[in-house]
Amino acid sequence: MCGIVAYLGEKCAQPILIEGLKRLEYRGYDSAGVALLDGGAIRIKKTSGRINALEAILDEPRTEDTLGLGHTRWATHGEPNEINAHPHPDYTGKIAIVHNGIIENYGTLKTWLQNEGVKFLSDTDTEVIANLIGYFYATGDGSEESKQCDGQTKFEWAVQRALRELHGTYGLGILCADFPNILIGAKKGSPLILGVGDGEYILASDAAAIVEHTTQAVYLADNEMVTISPGGFHTKTIDNVPITKELSEIEFSLEQIELGGFEHHMLKEIFEQPKALTTCMGGRIDAQNGRIKLGGIDSYLRELTRTKHLILTACGTAWHAGLVGEFLFEQLARIPTETEYASEFRYRNPIIEDGTVVVCISQSGETADTLAAVEQAKERGATVLGIVNVVGSSIARATDAGVYLHAGPEIGVASTKAFTAQVAVLTMLAVELGRRRHISSNEATGHIKELAQIPDKISRILEQSDHIKQIAAANAGQENWLFLGRGFNYPVALEGALKLKEISYIHAEGLPAAEMKHGPIALIVDAMPTVFIATAGPQYNKIMGNIAEVRARGGKTIIIATEGDENIKQHADHLITVPDAPEILQPMLTVLPLQLLAYHAAMLRGHDVDKPRNLAKSVTVE
Ligand code: G6P
Repeated sequence: MCGIVAYLGEKCAQPILIEGLKRLEYRGYDSAGVALLDGGAIRIKKTSGRINALEAILDEPRTEDTLGLGHTRWATHGEPNEINAHPHPDYTGKIAIVHNGIIENYGTLKTWLQNEGVKFLSDTDTEVIANLIGYFYATGDGSEESKQCDGQTKFEWAVQRALRELHGTYGLGILCADFPNILIGAKKGSPLILGVGDGEYILASDAAAIVEHTTQAVYLADNEMVTISPGGFHTKTIDNVPITKELSEIEFSLEQIELGGFEHHMLKEIFEQPKALTTCMGGRIDAQNGRIKLGGIDSYLRELTRTKHLILTACGTAWHAGLVGEFLFEQLARIPTETEYASEFRYRNPIIEDGTVVVCISQSGETADTLAAVEQAKERGATVLGIVNVVGSSIARATDAGVYLHAGPEIGVASTKAFTAQVAVLTMLAVELGRRRHISSNEATGHIKELAQIPDKISRILEQSDHIKQIAAANAGQENWLFLGRGFNYPVALEGALKLKEISYIHAEGLPAAEMKHGPIALIVDAMPTVFIATAGPQYNKIMGNIAEVRARGGKTIIIATEGDENIKQHADHLITVPDAPEILQPMLTVLPLQLLAYHAAMLRGHDVDKPRNLAKSVTVE
């Protein structure tokens, strides 16, 4: 949700900023801009639209411009026009900033600054930060401290003084025209990483904009800032307390974030699922001896085994994975489990008793609501674990311990491989807790052996992509779809509907199949598609009844069934098969046809699947 990138080094900054913005474009893509320091003045170019619209208005890059800021926006305050695009200059023209986050008290600060005679140009909360820094830099605050500092110290002081006034979240890159060799970054609640290269520094919202230049990085923590100059960088808190930060290795490579011959990141990520799950489970499952080892939470396993109450919390697709987890923990480990939307959990008065464990699930590790749920659970004394993909992300760092997905970077806005990897981690955890609490070792070994076969079974489903494309073509003109499943496939029905909505803009609803007759059945008209997940399992006969109800009303059926199910053919207008697997493991298979169906429907309708309308990959605002 908004991508920021800044460069200081010896190379020409503009192409590096543009390349970085392209890598971050999945975080927001309604407007973009860059700021460069140009002989003592700040030159800003910005526009509504995507990075290619920005490229079209840029001047030729100048080799002497070796310091700059870039931003790609997902609008919160103010429509996505040129004036609201970042970078934002301050009223004196000396300061320019790029910002990711939301300033909650911007109204009060804006009024105060306006009363001081400061003029505003945009509707954004960000301009308040620029003007506040500019104001303190220009006039001080009357204190002895402000009178004593000058030069670079004054710039740093003004930034700190301004940041201490802000309520809300920020990842910031800041320039001052008086210091053509200084770049300041600051962070609270939004991600910010400093890539440290050979004589160059790249400050960015995520590692995707950095890996091309260096794999060495410093992860800033909340309320920290960094001042970068050609000679090096120093970090301190916004209260001016120096801190030493360790360099970390960025754990992914450039190839992992490139398209590698696929038309879209989403398609690449769908096809990467066999590999992603193999990596995710690699070294963790021992099919031979029926054991699971999740190193990251080893020291919490006793507590987890004894827990009387497990809360899973997440947003979007990760919430759907959580719901699968709830069913797994109940069935295999007999642990009372609830799955909560993080946005609701954080504002409720949740019951967290002694021994409650909260597990937060997030691909990005940056989702604002999920991060707030972590804090809320910690404040109430729960042990908080994370299931996160992005190494070193805010949620990974805020939780007591956790399990990384190791699914590789996910760039497509619609989450795919992260879902199956989240479910794989939840399954491994549920089997291990189940073995310790409820099921026999033999049963656990059986599940582990089946789990090991999932990547190959996914590969077989992927072979049907062209067939699924034809089904999408036959139905993509329909504006209303239903997705129905029962038991472990009910969360998959929710996920299938979400995928279709997100990228094809078709209205879709996911439901437990039996709920259809309590209302949604009224929607069924001639040719309206209903996607049924009707794989072999305890509820097979029940869902057959629901299929008959749809057909009796003229609806079309797209059925996901188990390979070899001859009986179901006569009930399906369109049939997609998945290899046989125990019901508890089916979500990692049955979701695949739904991801492909959504992808092909979106393509046939002419949409940009990697950058769907109004969405952003990582929702770092409430
Ligand atoms: C956004 C994305 C979804 C994702 C959700 C949660 O809405 O578009 O694909 O499921 O955020 O993201 P997280 O990174 O916390 O899993």
